[in-house]
This record gives sequence, structure tokens and C-alpha cells, in this order.
Amino acid sequence: MAKLKIVVTGATGLLGRATATHLVECGHEVISVDRKEGDFAAGSKLVVGDLTSLEFCDSVIEGANAVVHLGAIPNPTDARQFNVFQNNSVSTFGVFTAAAQARVKTVVYASSLSAYGFAYSDEWTSPIYAPVDEAHPFVFEESYALSKEVNERSALMWSRRCETAFVGMRFPWTNTPEKTLELARRFNDEDKLPPDPRFPKGIVAKILWTYLDLRDAVKAIEVVINSNIKGAHVYNFAAPDIMAKAPTMELMAKFHPKTEIRSPLPGHTAPLSSQAFVHTFGYAPQYLINRDEI
Ligand SMILES: NC(=O)c1ccc[n+]([C@@H]2O[C@H](COP(=O)([O-])OP(=O)(O)OC[C@H]3O[C@@H](n4cnc5c(N)ncnc54)[C@H](O)[C@@H]3O)[C@@H](O)[C@H]2O)c1
Repeated sequence: MAKLKIVVTGATGLLGRATATHLVECGHEVISVDRKEGDFAAGSKLVVGDLTSLEFCDSVIEGANAVVHLGAIPNPTDARQFNVFQNNSVSTFGVFTAAAQARVKTVVYASSLSAYGFAYSDEWTSPIYAPVDEAHPFVFEESYALSKEVNERSALMWSRRCETAFVGMRFPWTNTPEKTLELARRFNDEDKLPPDPRFPKGIVAKILWTYLDLRDAVKAIEVVINSNIKGAHVYNFAAPDIMAKAPTMELMAKFHPKTEIRSPLPGHTAPLSSQAFVHTFGYAPQYLINRDEI
């Protein structure tokens, strides 16, 4: 495989550092980019700066073959809805603009399962139908999700103006197996545990008990970079099962009783379909939760 020059943004963050580390191990030249100093992938070069500046985006992306854009505020943190939207949508537009000018072959960027609107709506919001596929409407009411939709539309616009391919990954909760187990256990005992601001009550049911191991997220990004995909696309990409002990249909009946079940969800099948990604790229998540440990 050819050695590529790959820019990874958000590279002192969770997904960015793991992705940059993997791409270095694959033999690529990796430029780690983040607005904050911190641990970053050994073997890569760290460039610190703010991606809301187009000049900064141009300076780091020039000469790159691929960009993995993971730099963002990863959840809705501001009551006025302004900062997250401004940071996440402007930085992404800057990255796409610079990638188009630099004639980058492929941009892979993080969208989110939260874009659908179930995860962070104040009012309890259920899917209209399940399994949720990419055609499911967005029903969000906050600006983190809005920024993800704007980013997907920015990608579509740029794909009509240049040859760069833009692939948006609608990731679910994505973390190490230890952190996923911690969340899964919390769901079991939620009513008996003291509140934890990291895990608002009901959040696991709101994310439809879906998860992804960090190693699978990173591998999927590599698979996209190695593909010959063209145009702009978005894909769900989650483990095929859920992080709960109870079967999916029992949970859906309890937490999302009005959701129309369009195809069978036997056992612990995730109520979210990643079929489009698996079909297109031939890679499905390999690292699944050990339900006996929940
Ligand atoms: N981890 C998850 O469960 C998950 C799920 C779905 C989607 N995502 C998405 O994946 C991406 C990465 O998430 P993460 O969990 O690694 O978050 P993280 O907070 O660990 O890392 C994000 C990094 O982006 C950097 N950043 C933010 N704004 C920037 C800017 N303007 N310029 C330069 N750097 C900037 C931050 O400093 C941080 O280091 C985000 O787009 C997030 O929305 C994450």
C-alpha cells in the first residue's frame, strides 16, 4: 500500500489520537492537528491551531492525500447553543474548503448518531422507525446535532465543486471497552445510582443502547481512506448488537413503544442499521461487548 500524507484533526482527543496512532502504524505520514496541546500519536507531528481559521486549515492541509476530520466539541455543552454550533460548523467548513483547494483525495469526518435527535433532546424523543437507517429524518432540537447536519450538507456542496470524496461517519457512543462496560453497567443500575453529569439519566436508552469500540472506528476510517469512493456519503457505523442485558425488543417496547419496527430485531440486535457501510466497504465491527461482564 502506498504511503500517504494524512492530516488527522482533533488529534489530542479520544478518536483523533487513536486514529493517528493507527495510521502511523499502517506506515503513513501523519500530521496531528488540534487546538490544544496534549498526548498525540507517537511518530506523527503535532501542529497546534484553531480550525475555525481558514488560513490555518490551508497551512496544515496543503499537500495532504487524505484528511480525517475529528476536531470538534463532541457534545452539546452550551446553554445558548451558539459556541458548539459556531466552532463545529465553521471549522468543518474550513477543513472542507482547504481540502478542496489542496485536491485531497478523501476526507473522512465524524458525524454522529446524535444528529438524529434522540440522544440530546430535552423532551423524550423516539425513532419514528427502527432499525434506524440513514434515511431516518433528523428530529433534533439542539445545535450540536444541527452542526452535524450542516457539516453533512457542507460536504455535499463541496463534492459538487471538486473531485474530493467526503465520507461522514455517524458514530454512536465510541470508546474503549472499559468505558463502554462502565456505561452499560450504569444503565442496569441507573435508578439506584447517584446522578453523574457525564451520564444524564436515560442516556443509554436515548442512544438506543448502541456503541462502537474505538478500534473499530479507527479501522473503518482506514478502510474508507483505502477505498476509491467518490462524491459525498454518510453512513451509520455501530456494533451490530447493543450494550444491554435485556433483549432489544423488550427494551424498545419499554422505552420507545411508539417506534414502528420495520424489520425483525432478534436477540440483542442494534436498532440501528450499519448495512450501507458494511455493504459498501466490506468491513463490519469486530470488537463486541462481552455481555456476561455487564
Ligand atoms: N466519542 C464519541 O462517542 C463520539 C460519538 C459520535 C461522534 N463523535 C464525534 O467524533 C469527533 C471526535 O470526538 P472525540 O470523542 O474524540 O472528542 P474529544 O473531545 O476527545 O476530541 C476532540 C478534539 O477536537 C479538538 N478541537 C475542537 N475544536 C477544535 C478547533 N476549532 N480546532 C482544532 N481542534 C479542535 C479538541 O481540542 C479535542 O482535542 C467529534 O466530531 C465528535 O462529535 C464522537
